[in-house]
Amino acid sequence: MNIQDRIDFDLLDAQLVALTGNARDKLASSAIFVALLYDALPDINWLGIYVSRGDTLVLGPFQGKPACIRIPLGQGVCGSAAQQMKNLCIDDVSEFDGHIACDAASKSELVVPLFLDRRVVGVLDIDSPLRGRFSTRDQQGIDKLCRTFEKTVAEHNAQLATTDAEFI
Ligand code: SME
Repeated sequence: MNIQDRIDFDLLDAQLVALTGNARDKLASSAIFVALLYDALPDINWLGIYVSRGDTLVLGPFQGKPACIRIPLGQGVCGSAAQQMKNLCIDDVSEFDGHIACDAASKSELVVPLFLDRRVVGVLDIDSPLRGRFSTRDQQGIDKLCRTFEKTVAEHNAQLATTDAEFI
């Protein structure tokens, strides 16, 4: 069995709920989400959240080397996933036209848009130094964690009775 097949995504989901349950703060929960995933996933060199700011994605909490701060919608893997409102899994980033290389070590990439009220409020971006790092099982597990994270953020908004449409 491949080590990646042993990741317990249900356990990670429960840990995410437990760790963010009392956070009452979107920024803190985002930082926890990113740190939890970066620690749990093997063969990852960068993992973070870009948040939507109008027609641009802006760097949020992340783990890894310093990365580009702004990505216009429609550009790079992140901007394309946000614009198309769908997950993009790129087995070899050198074959993705317009890939933005923040770290030359990155060989494959998974980007999952994050939604609130059916709007894309950001993306989760994960880079790996291995080509084809993200299996179908990984994609499904990470997607489910993102849905749990969206619920957490929505609950924070409800607790704060905020009308703030921005994610972080
Ligand atoms: N590779 C991304 C840019 C962000 S970094 O990977 C952290 C892209 O093409 O959008």
